[in-house]
Amino acid sequence: MKVLILYGSKHGCTAKCAYLLRDKLGNADVMDVSQSTSVALDDYDAVVVGTPVYVGQINKAVSRFCNANLTALQEKRIGLFVCCGLPEKAMEQLETGFPRELVQAARVKAYFGYQYEINRLNFFEKALMRLLGKHRDEGDIRHAVIEDFARSLTGSCH
Ligand SMILES: Cc1cc2nc3c(=O)[nH]c(=O)nc-3n(C[C@H](O)[C@H](O)[C@H](O)COP(=O)(O)O)c2cc1C
Repeated sequence: MKVLILYGSKHGCTAKCAYLLRDKLGNADVMDVSQSTSVALDDYDAVVVGTPVYVGQINKAVSRFCNANLTALQEKRIGLFVCCGLPEKAMEQLETGFPRELVQAARVKAYFGYQYEINRLNFFEKALMRLLGKHRDEGDIRHAVIEDFARSLTGSCH
């Protein structure tokens, strides 16, 4: 089965998770949606889409790509994942962020964790984090979830 992993990422966590998933799958192509002008979806049996969440919103390039390719994506085996700092809101943010049709069509949906480094954030992001009382680098990438996701995506039963 040929798998494409598409992601958007502002500060690198979602990109890192996309490559960790690729390693678990053994063989998959990985693409940053914001860098790809055209994506040959026809070449793939399964497509995974990953996004971070910023101020309640999924990545704009991811959202644009999903909406523009909704029909083609619905014909694939779909996996969706989010990276975000609020584990308790992760699945809600995934389900409201991605187009409804894609959420319904998805075979696997998961929260892969989060990561940020204060020094890599821009001025406004730093200010927001300061307001939220976040002064240190933080992260929790869920390797076991990524492994389960890879197994469920390629497995033969739902
Ligand atoms: C300025 C800022 C705003 C954020 N807003 C949210 C949010 O609304 N909800 C959430 O769950 N996580 C939020 N996060 C956490 C990020 O989603 C998390 O760090 C994610 O791993 C970033 O992924 P990326 O490195 O691929 O961009 C925020 C982080 C920053 C720095």
